[in-house]
Amino acid sequence: MQHLVLTGDPASDDELIARAARVLRSDGLVAFPTETVYGLGGLARSEVAVRRIFEAKGRPSTDPLIVHVAPDWPLDEVVATADPLVDRLRRTWWPGPLTLVVPKHPSIPDLVTAGLDTVAVRAPAHPIARALLAATGQPVAAPSANRFSYVSATTAQHVIDDLGDACDVVLDAGPATAGIESTVVAVADDRLTVLRHGAIPVDELRSVLGDDVHILDGTGPSPTVPDDAPASSPGRLVRHYSPTTETLACEPGFVPERPDGSVCFLGYADRPVVLPPGWTLRVLGRLDDLGEVARVLYSVLREIDRAGHDTIVIELTGLAVGLGRALDDRIRRAASGRVLGPVRS
Ligand code: TXA
Ligand code: MG
Repeated sequence: MQHLVLTGDPASDDELIARAARVLRSDGLVAFPTETVYGLGGLARSEVAVRRIFEAKGRPSTDPLIVHVAPDWPLDEVVATADPLVDRLRRTWWPGPLTLVVPKHPSIPDLVTAGLDTVAVRAPAHPIARALLAATGQPVAAPSANRFSYVSATTAQHVIDDLGDACDVVLDAGPATAGIESTVVAVADDRLTVLRHGAIPVDELRSVLGDDVHILDGTGPSPTVPDDAPASSPGRLVRHYSPTTETLACEPGFVPERPDGSVCFLGYADRPVVLPPGWTLRVLGRLDDLGEVARVLYSVLREIDRAGHDTIVIELTGLAVGLGRALDDRIRRAASGRVLGPVRS
């Protein structure tokens, strides 16, 4: 594995990006930064590369990958739709963390889409991701660059810790800026169905698109899809983004009296809590700056996971606006759906 550190100096960075693009074009795997999280990329049309992506992550072949493109590439070699709503979404949010699920072009291997007749496509905004795609000249399939069901990688070191030599190249451009994955929406018949809350809040989609586009929430109030669910409900596993340490969530402002043992509680500076004696408090940031919470969440989870606590308890933001939806979704999944709250009669 080659760990290529970008410095921001185009003279040296361009050469490293060209090297990574050559690796991709010869069916290799390149981990690269995006504005959301790091991705593990391989050519979308290379069955060899795509197979290696699934193996590297330990990801079941029933969970489809996102195809990454440059914002100005013609999409008709990746998707089989001429939906004007797709064009509108691209013009408004690309490049950026909005993934569109649309009917797929036959040239995209079934392996990428887990046999579905739709493909997820996005144009990342990160300058290094854009430069890599431009130098490669072909669509790149890339899931988040972490072990399957573990916390996503927001730094190159996280990728190396998780995947190491399974990558041919790790392009290192420092921490991802958004820190939470893209918003995934299925587009059909003048309506959007949100499949994953993410870095673009649904309120933003709603306020920009107005009343003429229906937006449905396809994620449900809390994920209840069993872990052996078939491909019809990909990526909606209850346990996902999870630390190895036993992890529980709790309702906003509710501090449970248990569990016993060494517990690390993740909360917010602007919602103070009184913890049971012996618990460790770690502040994720402020509820009035959820962007900062999103940026650090996965790094903090990885760090706390190594600290040897018996249990991690994460407080939900309880905010259904802005990034609150996406954050609470990730917190619930990190806790495998187990949320502690007051006993209700
Ligand atoms: O921000 C992101 O989206 C990052 C960066 C690297 O781009 N990628 C990412 O990929 O989070 P991954 O594979 O970890 O998550 C992709 C999600 C999964 O929930 C998957 O099930 C869903 O997108 N997905 C992919 N193709 C789909 C399809 N055809 N229909 C429905 N869901 C799909
Ligand atoms: Mg992932």
